[in-house]
Order: sequence, then structure tokens, then C-alpha cells
Amino acid sequence: MSSNSVTAPGEEPQGRKVFIKTFGCQMNAYDSERMAEALAPLGYVETAAMADADIILLNTCHIRDKAAEKVYSELGRVREAKASRRQRNLDTLVAVAGCVAQAEGAEIIDRAPVVDLVIGPQSYQKLPQLIRSARSGRRPIVETEFPEDSKFADLPPRRAPQRASAFLTVQEGCNKFCTFCVVPYTRGSEFSRPVAEIETEARRLVEQGVREITLLGQNVNAYHGQGADGSAWTLARLIARLAKIDGLERLRYTTNHPRDMSEDLIAAHRDVPKLMPYLHLALQSGADRILAAMNRKHTAADYLRLVQRIRAARPDIALSTDIIVGFPGETEAEFEATLRVVEQVGFAQAFSFKYSPRPGTPAATMTGQIPPAVAAERLARLQAVLDAHQARFNRACIGRTLPVLFEKKGRRAGQLVGRSPYLQAVHAAANEAMIGRVLPVEIAGAGPNSLSGTVVAD
Ligand code: SAH
Ligand code: SF4
Ligand code: F3S
Repeated sequence: MSSNSVTAPGEEPQGRKVFIKTFGCQMNAYDSERMAEALAPLGYVETAAMADADIILLNTCHIRDKAAEKVYSELGRVREAKASRRQRNLDTLVAVAGCVAQAEGAEIIDRAPVVDLVIGPQSYQKLPQLIRSARSGRRPIVETEFPEDSKFADLPPRRAPQRASAFLTVQEGCNKFCTFCVVPYTRGSEFSRPVAEIETEARRLVEQGVREITLLGQNVNAYHGQGADGSAWTLARLIARLAKIDGLERLRYTTNHPRDMSEDLIAAHRDVPKLMPYLHLALQSGADRILAAMNRKHTAADYLRLVQRIRAARPDIALSTDIIVGFPGETEAEFEATLRVVEQVGFAQAFSFKYSPRPGTPAATMTGQIPPAVAAERLARLQAVLDAHQARFNRACIGRTLPVLFEKKGRRAGQLVGRSPYLQAVHAAANEAMIGRVLPVEIAGAGPNSLSGTVVAD
């Protein structure tokens, strides 16, 4: 950590602690790491105990109502922690970051006065400065502008993540405005980081022991960052470039919109051995009328054709998806159309949700809102099918020998957990020295969410 960082005159002393809790997507997980790194030069080290923390930072998600409400129940616990620290004469600064911060701004402080600082996802480069202001008594502070400058360029360089696998955000924001979704409002418009900046960060991660990088973006396949030649590079071109980094063994990317799945990216799954055979491609619905009302701008047939092309390039690819049931106006027949597409594709993994009306989005005020009980029943039926497909995909791995990147100790002694190329968790007996290595594992068992097997000789 930052034990060797120097405290400049006027800065806080060493030994202060920050507790960070992350909700929502992988991009938030990435941002939380960057925020921890930004606070390190101020003398803050991370703690897993809220009661010990001088700063309590919640990095929040606004995607569905439940996600946003979780933040407020967490703030209840935060209030207790802050009160009991005050009894011990300890000051606590409470910060809310992420998509709820962006969407609700000062309303958060009205509802939860325990909060001292509200900071939106595009302003994290200002975090140290805002923490200093808050420490010197200026509270509460609300910072939810979308600044001109990219937060990435002004954040300190990546620190060793002590892991074999790391996230790297390459693209943020979204201009697609699907009618159900808050992301264009909470993350702002689409932005791609320049190639050189990403490559520097990737090399640094690999020097620090990272073997797998997952490139992140709300629409990562819409990536169009500037290359050294000044032209806009595609994600496929970026992947080809990063694949040249010695010591980097695996690349992944998520999450993708079907409309941006370009020919060169599909070809990369055939041509770039380091690119893992796994693709998250949101379907949302299998009914064309619903897809149109969602503003997805593709049909079910387009999606199926795309799947065919991807499988032609990489026959063993594991496909993953997101599906929403109970979008306004969804009929039983339209829901069944979704089930049919799901049957045709056979997803290896899937995330499925009941539609949740989000304030300010067009779908929230559409007619034909579906009763929660109907949506719940559809979700249960859909999940039964998705679970069966996932179990089938996992079972089909039994008897195969798969390369597994070991990441951490398993629950049982002498056991490690890693990931297959298809992103399944794999448990195997192995010693700790194998963490960070890719080893062949003969798969002997398959559960609903993971595989188990034996490491075989290299
Ligand atoms: N950019 C990605 C999705 C990011 S949001 C894409 O277009 O595929 C992650 C997922 O949350 C979405 O794919 C969608 O399935 C789900 N989601 C978003 N808004 C939702 C809402 N209002 N109710 C229910 N699920 C929602
Ligand atoms: Fe949201 Fe994805 Fe649609 Fe963008 S493309 S609005 S992030 S669902
Ligand atoms: Fe949630 Fe924001 Fe990610 S709303 S899913 S944390 S982009």
C-alpha cells in the first residue's frame, strides 16, 4: 500500500483509514480502486471495518430501484458507525460516489443528512481536493458536473492490485438512450480513452503481476479511442495491440451492445489466441415490438444472425447475456418470444431482471406497466430455462482439460480457485505458488456455478 508515501506540509498525517463499499457494475469496482489510489497520497489506507474508517465511501449504483435503495439502507448503518465514532471523539467523513450520486445529487443529503460529500462518476480526479475541503469544515459538498477533462488523465497511476486478473476501463458513458436505462444520465456521453494511455496502464498492471485484463466500458465494443497516428482505433485494433504485451496471458472485454459488434471484433475471436472465448452480449428481449420500444435498434433475427457469425468465427465461444422481463406492454406472447430466442442461443451464463421503472427515463411513464406478480412469474420461468442451459454448458466441460488462471485460495485447505477460458470458476487442489499461473485442469465435476478438477502435468 502507500506506507512509503510522503506527507506534504499541510496534508493529513499517515495512518488514516478509508472504508469503501462498492455496488453495481465492474466499472464501479474499477473506479473504487482508482479512488483508493487517489486517496493514498493523502495518507489513507483501506480498511474492511467501517468502524475504523475516517472516510466511509459508498460507490453506488442506480440501475434498478433495488440497487439504489440498498444505498439508503447502508447509509443507516453508516449513521450508526459515525455516531459511535463521535462518542469516541473521532470525526468521520461520509462520501457517496457513483451513479446514485450523479442521479440524485443534493437529494441524497436531504434524505440522509449523515452524508458530507456527494461526487459523481466523472469527477473522481477531484476527490483529494474535495476531501481536503470537507476536512477543513466545508460540508456538505455536492460535485456532479460533467467536467471537460477526462478523470483518467488526472488520477494517479495504477498501484499493484495484488491479483492475477484486473479490470481496465477503456470507454465510459453511453449515447444510446435505451428507454429503460439510467446510464446515459449517470455516466454522461460516450467517451473512449486514448490507446497510449490504456497501453501504459496495461503494461503497468502486467509488470505488477496481472495476467488477465478485462477491458471495461458501458458499451465497450463502441470503443473508438485515438491511436498514436491520430485516427480512431476500434476495440479489435486495441485488443490486437494489447495482446502483444509479454506476460499478459488473457484479454476479455465487457459489456457489449449487439449493434456495435463489428466484423473485425468477431474476427479477433478467431485470430487472437489471448482473447478469451467468452462474450457478453445483451439481448434484453426476444420480441421485436419490445426491442423497438426499448430503442435497442435491432430485431431478434438480427441478434440470432450475429450469434451465428460469432460462432462461425469461434465455435466454442461461451455467450452470456442480460434480459429484462416485464417491460411496459410486454404480452405473454412477447415474453414467450424471449424464451424462444433463449432456447435458440443456449447461453452459457445470463443475468435476468424484472423491469424497474427509473425516474426520468421514457419507459417509466409508458402505458401498460406490468404488475409485479406477472413480472415475477415470468422471471422465474425464464431463470429456470437459463439455469438449465448454464448447467448443461458446465456439464459439457466434464472430461475436457481446460487452461485455468488461478486467482486465489479456495474455501477448502489446499484448494485454489481460478477461471476457465469461459469464465467459469474452477476449483482444484494446488499450492499457493500456483496463484497467477495458467495451468491445465482436467474437469471432473460441474455444479450450477462452478467446475472442479485436477491439475495435470504442464
Ligand atoms: N450497456 C449494456 C447494459 C448496461 S446496464 C447494454 O446495453 O447491454 C446492465 C443491465 O441492466 C442491462 O443490460 C439491463 O438488462 C439491466 N437494466 C438496465 N436498466 C434496467 C431497468 N430499468 N430495469 C431492469 N433492468 C435494467
Ligand atoms: Fe443503458 Fe446499455 Fe442502453 Fe446504454 S446501451 S442506454 S448502457 S442499456
Ligand atoms: Fe449501476 Fe452505474 Fe454501473 S447505474 S450498473 S453503477 S454504470
